[in-house]
Amino acid sequence: MTSALSVDHFPVAVLPEVAFLGRSNVGKSSVINSLLGTKIAKTSSTPGRTQSINFFEVRWAGKPHPEVVFADLPGYGYARVPKSITAGWSGFIEPYVKERQALKLCVALIDLNVPPQQNDQNLLNFLEEAGRRVLIVGTKADKLSGNTLHRALEVFKTTRPEAKVVPFSARTGMGRDQLWQEIRGAIQP
Ligand code: GTP
Ligand code: MG
Repeated sequence: MTSALSVDHFPVAVLPEVAFLGRSNVGKSSVINSLLGTKIAKTSSTPGRTQSINFFEVRWAGKPHPEVVFADLPGYGYARVPKSITAGWSGFIEPYVKERQALKLCVALIDLNVPPQQNDQNLLNFLEEAGRRVLIVGTKADKLSGNTLHRALEVFKTTRPEAKVVPFSARTGMGRDQLWQEIRGAIQP
């Protein structure tokens, strides 16, 4: 599918949005579930599980109305995802990122267990060129010991010296409070 889906195809946005982007299998849906404390976003060990933009309205406990929307985006750049599927992604992910007015923060996920990937750099460049506020989150930090985690962060920094990376684990909750703090800061009116 290469059709030019426009942003009109997305639900009308009246709430600030936070998008979660990154390679297939990096843990986007798991980060959302960890932040929300539910299993609402479908996760899978099969890359390419999320194939459309899924919007989740988030309401604080005790408040009557939702105050932020999380957008779970399909992943990119994973060899096991058929090209026939990924070919269509740029048709709706790009206009969403470029044109969505409600989009206040792009959470870009990188897997700290693998060396820096060119397609991650491409995503970060694309988000910066689109003028987006970006927060980099390093996923699956529980798989690394203190020392190897530190080294992985240093190696990533060689590719983007100014970048701040929040180490995160959906398994242990590492980074959860910091990520919430960043999200709250970004969506303030
Ligand atoms: P797509 O929708 O296919 O693009 O994947 P995704 O980025 O949404 O990844 P998803 O959250 O589905 O997680 C992919 C796999 O990584 C699953 O098997 C998860 O259990 C695993 N995973 C996700 N987060 C973590 C984590 O913090 N630690 C560990 N050890 N595994 C994780
Ligand atoms: Mg997913």
